[in-house]
Amino acid sequence: MANIKILVGTVYGNALDVAEICADSLRSEGHLVSIARQSQIEDVMDSGVDVFLIVTSTTGQGEIPDTLLMLYCQLKDRLPILPAKYYGVIALGDSSYDNFAEAGCLMDGLFQELKLTRLDEILFIDACETMAPEDEALPWVVKWESLLPNRAS
Ligand SMILES: Cc1cc2nc3c(=O)[nH]c(=O)nc-3n(C[C@H](O)[C@H](O)[C@H](O)COP(=O)(O)O)c2cc1C
Repeated sequence: MANIKILVGTVYGNALDVAEICADSLRSEGHLVSIARQSQIEDVMDSGVDVFLIVTSTTGQGEIPDTLLMLYCQLKDRLPILPAKYYGVIALGDSSYDNFAEAGCLMDGLFQELKLTRLDEILFIDACETMAPEDEALPWVVKWESLLPNRAS
């Protein structure tokens, strides 16, 4: 069983809806899951949490939503190295914008810099292609869960 924290970046609630569906799925597999709706550095430095799932939309012109921005800035500032932790990214966006799903890419780049290990590729969900992001997120998170370390323990 893993202790998983979902870090949500959202403006209008789509990413939070996806996060809640992922949380239900992960809990049904026996994991301990919490959702950070307004993330701060303490959420990532929490020694009890081994795995993070970043679920974020992109706003403005390729920007990180406010609910994740403070965490991003705090981590950029302090750059704590966290090599024993794992993460995944679900990046919501709209390909009619220039900077498609940039917030997810920025968070991924930062977590790479902090030396966490990403499980699976980033899942990109394009609002131009689907009105139901959960339909893409659910099968992805099932596969992602199967990659978690020590899942049998
Ligand atoms: C004002 C505004 C700006 C946006 N800017 C971007 C952008 O730069 N890149 C992108 O991929 N999507 C962009 N989007 C699309 C959102 O990321 C997408 O609609 C997403 O599903 C919203 O999720 P949320 O409800 O969790 O915020 C923008 C949407 C709005 C309304």
